[in-house]
Amino acid sequence: MAASSSSIDVPISSTLQGGYFNPLLRTLQAERHLTKEMLMYPIFITDEPDAEVEIVSLPGQKRWGLNKLSGFLAPLVAKGLKSVILFGVPLHMTKDSRGSPADDPSTPVILATKLIRREFPDVVVACDVCLCEYTDHGHCGELRPYSEVGEGNKVIDNGKSVKRMQEVALAYAKAGAHIVAPSDMMDGRIRAIKQALIDEGFSNRCSLMAYSAKFASAMYGPFREAAGSVPNFGDRKCYQLPPAARGLARRAIIRDVEEGADFLMVKPALPYLDIMREAKDLAPNHPLACYQVSGEFSMIHAGAKAGVYPLKDMAFETAEGFLRAGCTLILTYFTPDFLDWLSE
Ligand code: PBG
Ligand code: ZN
Repeated sequence: MAASSSSIDVPISSTLQGGYFNPLLRTLQAERHLTKEMLMYPIFITDEPDAEVEIVSLPGQKRWGLNKLSGFLAPLVAKGLKSVILFGVPLHMTKDSRGSPADDPSTPVILATKLIRREFPDVVVACDVCLCEYTDHGHCGELRPYSEVGEGNKVIDNGKSVKRMQEVALAYAKAGAHIVAPSDMMDGRIRAIKQALIDEGFSNRCSLMAYSAKFASAMYGPFREAAGSVPNFGDRKCYQLPPAARGLARRAIIRDVEEGADFLMVKPALPYLDIMREAKDLAPNHPLACYQVSGEFSMIHAGAKAGVYPLKDMAFETAEGFLRAGCTLILTYFTPDFLDWLSE
């Protein structure tokens, strides 16, 4: 029947709605779907063995002591938790200029890695490698004075810092980490760590995940509160990437591929979807991860609380964005929620 004269004639090639009028058809329009395998849960471990302390700015998240870890993880593993990334929060260990507690044999991350490997053999353990939680100055690397005149004129000592990342990554690999993930943003650390892993016999049992395009973001606040890693002077803008710097991000991705990264990461996630897509295009043969950081998580919670959207809808919408942009691994504090939601 011919269209009535009051309707607009839509040409065949303009007719899209035939493809998504039904829930199953809508599902089939995605290139990939969020699965439990794609979720990596960030966990804060302190050196107070019995700690179970709420992190006020990260709704529902806590700092965990070693003695509480199994009880916390067991139900999540039963729901399908596949991987975690560990961050150390030393509250009693003595911090110094070189971040010595990072690879102290009794540091919480090393003890937790061993514990999780022992008690949850199917869980993949990643360890964040950085010094900021362990240095007395709170920066991600070691410092050196850059001028004789004036105190406080300090700059990152890249060479020394990379040496420390190597040592720390190796200590975590030796403790049983499946993945070491340097988040420090020093130049050349991926090659140095990869070489150390190869030299020490870990080339085929420890993976290297590079925080390649990690931006100097305003969204790390709750993490820094949780981890006690606020720098006590200056900021991180001389090593984390400028948010507007597409070119630097591309160079960092290309560099980390050349230096031997097994996985690449973009961080934060939501404001950097374009960078994810670029990373996937530049490194199509590497799995791409993104980190939905603390500020993103808190922001989504705040919006839900203010009635802007239902929490679950927004969490899924962001994750779907990351998958669409090319990611197959998402580091997110929503992991326990997603494990529930994906079981419904
Ligand atoms: C430390 C580190 C940070 C995050 C992960 N590793 C904070 C920072 O760079 O200051 C941020 C994670 C988050 O905000 O959830 N190098
Ligand atoms: Zn750091």
